[in-house]
Amino acid sequence: MTTFADVAVLGAGTMGHALALVHALTGARVRLFDVRPEVVDRAFQLIDAALATLREAGEVEADAAEAARARITPAATLEAALARAELVVETVVEDPEVKRAVFEAVARAAPAGAIVTSNTSYLDVFPLMPEALGPRAAIAHWYTPPYILDLVDLVPGPATEPALLDRLEAFYRAIGKRPVRFARMIRGYVANRLQAAMSAEIFRLLDEEGIAPEVIDESIRHGLGLRLLLLGQLRKADYTGLELVAKALANRSYDPPPSRARSSTLDRLLAEGRTGVLAGRGFFDYGNRPAEELFRERDRALLALKRAWRAIEEGREP
Ligand SMILES: NC(=O)c1ccc[n+]([C@@H]2O[C@H](COP(=O)([O-])OP(=O)(O)OC[C@H]3O[C@@H](n4cnc5c(N)ncnc54)[C@H](O)[C@@H]3O)[C@@H](O)[C@H]2O)c1
Repeated sequence: MTTFADVAVLGAGTMGHALALVHALTGARVRLFDVRPEVVDRAFQLIDAALATLREAGEVEADAAEAARARITPAATLEAALARAELVVETVVEDPEVKRAVFEAVARAAPAGAIVTSNTSYLDVFPLMPEALGPRAAIAHWYTPPYILDLVDLVPGPATEPALLDRLEAFYRAIGKRPVRFARMIRGYVANRLQAAMSAEIFRLLDEEGIAPEVIDESIRHGLGLRLLLLGQLRKADYTGLELVAKALANRSYDPPPSRARSSTLDRLLAEGRTGVLAGRGFFDYGNRPAEELFRERDRALLALKRAWRAIEEGREP
């Protein structure tokens, strides 16, 4: 069997609720656990909003949406979430000590054959795991919202059995995802590292050059975005011509940004409570619109783009 019948999702936050949905849509029974019960209540509201968007976009039939929703149940304890799990999806806060404690509990309470995946963004989680977990654990790192974005970074630890990665890769492909498989731990994978490099330049432009957030996002959306979506960066380089790419490297008139631990622009926004969409304000103002509404608006637009993009990739008229 390619799919899993029982899945435990540990952590019900920004990623946890969405990963519970992703797995429930594959037909699995999903048990969702968070140390903060109110987060689990909120997770079900966000799952309902996401399902409504997927239904409207024709990605999921009404019956399938209802059945998927019914397959997700809250677990009162970590042990209850793990009791029958064939697959464990760890997506708790990005804190090594919290993850270490969760892996210890998983080693104690999950069935002996359960596969364990971690959604860590930047941590090398393998040294945080009890030895017994190593052979059956891997990083499976998703992008938000994972019920729309298809990339999954698949990373083995030093002790991971190769067959386990084959199993996970087959599962993600079978559910329509696009796993990229790494031979060993690459911190930050590819997409997160590229994003971090871009962020370093963006914070330099904001903090040191006084460039407005609108100008930065306009430049990305109307300059880089469309081409990146279609070609990636290296195929785009082939179209540019590699002689020009070499000249651009040699003729560089400014240095790449030094890495930075913080940004004065970001510090100012955080001090003002402008923490992003969930607070109604971040770099931009969202007019106190509820987060569900903003997520649904984003998801509708992403799904429309995805539909057009699928058609383009298949050589059809979008
Ligand atoms: N936010 C993103 O876009 C994104 C994308 C990819 C990967 N990730 C990774 O996913 C993980 C979760 O990130 P998030 O953005 O969902 O964070 P989040 O803060 O929204 O959610 C994390 C949840 O973990 C819960 N938690 C803390 N300790 C726990 C424990 N012992 N057992 C169960 N739950 C516990 C918290 O109460 C919280 O609700 C992190 O490792 C992060 O790096 C995040």
